[in-house]
Amino acid sequence: MSAPKKYAESPGNQYHATVHESIVYKQDHSKTKGIEPLVAANSHAHRIPLAIRDILERGHKRGLLKNSSLPVEIDAVAVTQGPGMAACLAQGLANAKLLATLWNKPLLYTHHMVAHTLTPLMTSTTPLKFPFLVVLLSGGHTQVVLSSSLTEYKILATTTDNSIGDAFDKVARMLSIDFDWAKTAPGAALEHFARVPPDCKKRKLPIPLKGKSQFSYSGLMVAVQRLVENNPALFSSEEELRYLAHDFQEAAFAQIQDKIHMALAHHSGSPHTIMDIVVSGGVASNQALRHSLSAKFPHLTFHFPPPWLCTDNAAMIAHAGLLLWNPSHDLSQIPYAKWSVEAFAR
Ligand code: KG4
Ligand code: ZN
Repeated sequence: MSAPKKYAESPGNQYHATVHESIVYKQDHSKTKGIEPLVAANSHAHRIPLAIRDILERGHKRGLLKNSSLPVEIDAVAVTQGPGMAACLAQGLANAKLLATLWNKPLLYTHHMVAHTLTPLMTSTTPLKFPFLVVLLSGGHTQVVLSSSLTEYKILATTTDNSIGDAFDKVARMLSIDFDWAKTAPGAALEHFARVPPDCKKRKLPIPLKGKSQFSYSGLMVAVQRLVENNPALFSSEEELRYLAHDFQEAAFAQIQDKIHMALAHHSGSPHTIMDIVVSGGVASNQALRHSLSAKFPHLTFHFPPPWLCTDNAAMIAHAGLLLWNPSHDLSQIPYAKWSVEAFAR
């Protein structure tokens, strides 16, 4: 079964979807200085109904929905089933099931990381050809994946410990970077803080597991922590902290370059050459990362979603649900806190 025809009629790209309106209900982690599972779950419980109410009202005001209580224009309700924090996923699932029941519409249970992977198909005008590489960089994942079709994913490299997003978040804290938690992700604050002149002094930080199909960020985090703790006088200078942030970023990105290089070398004998690469997930909004990857692999076509679609968003879930179109009336589905893209493919 495929999605209703009206969605495939956009010119140029058969997968093109239009984001009419977006509402940002950013969670405020300023009190906990990081994501606390219970606070995050309560915040989902509070904000998801508000976001649904607001988006339906706006859709009505803009003439996209005739009736905001029974929107006949909506064909299905897409919802993230996993992976992620179970308590947060459960809030999304409960709200989605309620809407689907009230409106008598099917549910589209969607995979969070597959949604990140397919995001460029939503906005990019450059065709994306299978097979392509996907670099998934988020708060929970650091993976290089080979995608051979909308439903086939093979993990070529993954992290053995922390994710790159986690490393950015923790190093932002170690460097005492000052930012507004209600508006900015710590990783984005670090990126901004790390903008130093190109001729700045460089400090060697660990780039582990070179040539191996694994990432590791714990050693890099410990190295930054030791430097700061062992040299309090030096790092009382904001300039030195900025240089260190820059060097951390470079070392974190060097691992990604290494794994892409390996994945390409590994695939070089196969009949389908990889020409396209998607870089997605919250960390992919980093401009320094985009520049360094594009410069390192000039022969590849990079597909970076626009930064506002790199971090978690509902549009990418709706879009993936639409592409994979697997309508379900099963209300018994539960969150999958852990759900690899390979298991999804099976
Ligand atoms: O995909 P995402 O929004 O949520 C998860 O699925 O985890 O990714 C969140 C991660 C956080 O660690 C956040 O600090 C990081 O993405 N992040 C960034 C940037 N913007 C968000 N990391 C580096 N540079 C950025 N500009
Ligand atoms: Zn995500």
